[in-house]
Amino acid sequence: KSYNIALIKGDGIGPEIIDEAVKVLDAVAACENIEFNYQEALMGGCAYDVTGDPLPQETIDISLSSNAVLFGAIGGQKWDTLPREKRPESGLLRFRKELGVFANLRPANVYDELVNASSLKPEIVKGVDLMVVRELIGGIYFGEPKGRDENKGWNTMVYTRPEIERIAHVAFKIAMERSKKVCSVDKANVLDVSQLWREVVEEVAKEYPEVELSHMYVDNAAMQLIRDPKQFDVILTGNIFGDILSDEASMLSGSIGLLPSASVGSSIGVYEPIHGSAPDIAGQGIANPIATIASASMMLRFALGENRAADRIDYGIKQALAEGYRTKDIAGFDAKEVCSTSEMGSIIAN
Ligand code: NAI
Ligand code: MG
Repeated sequence: KSYNIALIKGDGIGPEIIDEAVKVLDAVAACENIEFNYQEALMGGCAYDVTGDPLPQETIDISLSSNAVLFGAIGGQKWDTLPREKRPESGLLRFRKELGVFANLRPANVYDELVNASSLKPEIVKGVDLMVVRELIGGIYFGEPKGRDENKGWNTMVYTRPEIERIAHVAFKIAMERSKKVCSVDKANVLDVSQLWREVVEEVAKEYPEVELSHMYVDNAAMQLIRDPKQFDVILTGNIFGDILSDEASMLSGSIGLLPSASVGSSIGVYEPIHGSAPDIAGQGIANPIATIASASMMLRFALGENRAADRIDYGIKQALAEGYRTKDIAGFDAKEVCSTSEMGSIIAN
């Protein structure tokens, strides 16, 4: 079998981590007798430098004609002073919108091998296995009106009933495959948009009588995630709350460099680490490639149905950690060997 994969490396550590994911994909391809045809496309600062646009049309075209998109990260200080629509981050938001990927699935699980890498107590994090379902193409990152002048800046948090319904269905369906618990996170005590959110989620819940639904305010959720993360299974939330809570949840696992994500909703999914381009460590060969390699595994499982190949990758990650290999971000006292980005990629591939 042969698959077309659009590769968007992006900026900062993006190229470093995507190269390792490709190394691992090629290794499983050889074992499973499948073939990947990669097509590279530009997005972010690197795209702006070459074409003047952080999201060239060609990148959308390549992505839409592929089976799945594997994405690194974009952004960096060099482009921070550009007008908003030229900035790398605008390119990414537009990309998600163009592809219609409204659901961002962010699993946060704690590897047993790394309970000591977390800054939280082992008994709090051991066994954590939750899934943040984040709405990705609505809410305050997209709402109109938005803008700024010299003395005022404004954004608008908008959700429509159909937008809430479709993301809620995703969360309940995922919960049915897991432990049948959904916690919907909002700020309904203050925000009108959250009151609608809550109402619609309640309605959708009626279609999933087996699933236990609870609601939580986002400020409390931020606290509960640290106090007792094991109370959560599926967390359903909007764009900005999900952005923040999933970065927070990443620290349960020990490093943001461990957590993958899948952005789905239309025919083409985007598979990407939850972290950004990490300009502070770019070019040093120390970035953790595991989040991206685990994203490639999600791509195999959810976009291509190659479950055995995905299992191989998940096993490779676990085994590398069990044998004590650590990149710098997760190198606690128990590291047998602190390895570079590319060493970690090779160990997992092997
Ligand atoms: P970031 O996620 O890039 O980095 C936050 C911290 O985590 C940094 O100290 C970084 O060194 C560390 N880190 C991130 N990934 C790592 C990895 N794989 N291994 C080891 N350490 C890792 O977030 P930050 O610094 O807020 O943003 C940097 C740039 O990335 C900005 O331009 C931002 O807009 C962009 N960004 C892009 C995203 C994307 O492409 N999806 C998502 C988030 C931010
Ligand atoms: Mg984020």
